[in-house]
Amino acid sequence: MTSTWLLPWLLLSLVPLCRPCPTHCRCFSRRAEVVCDSTSLDSFPSDSLPKNTTFLTVQFTNITTITETHLNRTPHLQELHLFSNQIQSLGPNLLRGLPKLRTLDLTENKLADLPAKVFSHAPLQSLVLKSNQLKIVSDDWLSENSTLTWLDLSKNRLTEIPAILFRKAPNLDNLDLPNNLLEKIVAKSLDELTKLERLNLQNNKINSLDSTIFQKNLNLTHLFLSRNKLEKLPQNLFVNLTRLRHLYLEENHLQRVVPGLFDSLVSLDEEGLDLSGNPWSCDGKIEYLWSWLNKNKSKVFLPETVTCAAPPALIGRSVMSLTQSEIKMVS
Ligand SMILES: *[C@@H]1O[C@H](CO)[C@@H](O)[C@H](O)[C@H]1NC(C)=O
Ligand SMILES: *[C@@H]1O[C@H](CO)[C@@H](O)[C@H](O)[C@H]1NC(C)=O
Ligand SMILES: *[C@@H]1O[C@H](CO)[C@@H](O)[C@H](O)[C@H]1NC(C)=O
Ligand SMILES: *[C@@H]1O[C@H](CO)[C@@H](O)[C@H](O)[C@H]1NC(C)=O
Ligand SMILES: *[C@@H]1O[C@H](CO)[C@@H](O)[C@H](O)[C@H]1NC(C)=O
Ligand SMILES: *[C@@H]1O[C@H](CO)[C@@H](O)[C@H](O)[C@H]1NC(C)=O
Repeated sequence: MTSTWLLPWLLLSLVPLCRPCPTHCRCFSRRAEVVCDSTSLDSFPSDSLPKNTTFLTVQFTNITTITETHLNRTPHLQELHLFSNQIQSLGPNLLRGLPKLRTLDLTENKLADLPAKVFSHAPLQSLVLKSNQLKIVSDDWLSENSTLTWLDLSKNRLTEIPAILFRKAPNLDNLDLPNNLLEKIVAKSLDELTKLERLNLQNNKINSLDSTIFQKNLNLTHLFLSRNKLEKLPQNLFVNLTRLRHLYLEENHLQRVVPGLFDSLVSLDEEGLDLSGNPWSCDGKIEYLWSWLNKNKSKVFLPETVTCAAPPALIGRSVMSLTQSEIKMVS
C-alpha cells in the first residue's frame, strides 16, 4: 500500500534531474550544446530547447522553414549549424533575437530566395550558404558594415558576381564562390574587399578577367581560378598580388601568357602555381613561359604536366623541355 502511494512522489522528485531536451535531440549541458538529427523532426524544436543553448546543430531533418520566433527562445546562441535539412524559406529579420551569433551554416538546403534583412542584426563572422539553389543575392541580406569575415556561396546557381553584397562586407577575408555559373566578373566588383586573403572562383564559366579586377586585393594569398574558360590573362592582372602564395589556373583554355605576367608573384610557395590542363601553344610566343618555368620550376606544381597542345610536331611535349630552336626563338 505504502509503495503505490510513494511512487508518484518518487517520479516527481526525479523531474528536476531530467533537464529539458527536445525529442530527437541530444543535449550536452556542460557546453550548452544541442544536436538534433532525425528525419522524424519536421518543425524546429524550439519549445523545449534549454534557454542557455550556445551551440545548436539541427541536421538531416525534414524541417522546411525557420523564423525569428523559432530562434527567440535561445538568445545566447553563438553557433547555429543547419546542415542538410529541407529548408526552403527563412523568416525576415531571422537573427533579430540572436545578439551573440557568430556562425550560421545552412549548407545543403533548398534555399532559392531569401527575405530582406535575413542575416542582419547578428554579429555574424561566418555565413555558409553552400549547396543551395540561390540565383541572385541581394544587398539587403546584410546590414551596413557587416562583421562577416567568411562567406561561402559555393555550389549555387549564381550567374553574376554578387558585388552588391560585398559592399556591405568589407571585412571578408575568405570568399568562396566555386561551382556556380559565373561568366564574368564585372570590373571593380572586388575593390571593397581589401582584406581578402582567399578567393575561390573554381569551376565556373569565367572566360575573361579585367586587368584591374584584383588591383585592390593586396592581401590575397590564395587565388583559385581553375576549371573555368579563361583563354587569356591580361598583362597587369597579378601586378599587386605580391603576397600571393598559391595560384590555381589549371584546366582553363590558356594557350599563352603575356611576357611579365608572373613577375610580380614574388611570394609563391613551392609548388604554389598550377598551370596543368591548359592547351599551351608552343610557338615563338611561349618564350616567356618557357624561360619562367625553367627558372622557377620549384614553384610549379608538377611542372612537366605543363605541355604543348600545338603545333602538331610538339603536341604532348613538356613546355620546359623545349629547346630554343624548337620554339623558334627569333629576336
Ligand atoms: C545550461 O543550463 C542547464 C540547466 O538549465 C545547466 O545544467 C547547464 O550547466 C547550463 N550550461 C551552461 C554551459 O551554462
Ligand atoms: C521526410 O519527408 C519526406 C518527403 O517529404 C517523406 O517522404 C518522409 O516520409 C519524411 N520522413 C519522416 C520520417 O517523416
Ligand atoms: C562603416 O564603417 C566605415 C569605416 O569605419 C565608416 O566610415 C562608415 O560611416 C560606416 N558606415 C555605416 C553605414 O555605418
Ligand atoms: C593585410 O595583411 C597584413 C598582414 O597580415 C595586415 O597587417 C594588414 O592589416 C592587412 N591589410 C588589410 C587591408 O587588411
Ligand atoms: C596596384 O596596381 C596599379 C597598377 O595596375 C597601381 O597603379 C596601384 O598603385 C597599385 N596599388 C597599390 C596599392 O599598390
Ligand atoms: C623566378 O626566377 C627569377 C630568376 O631566378 C627570380 O628573379 C624570380 O624571383 C623567381 N620568381 C619566383 C616567384 O620565385
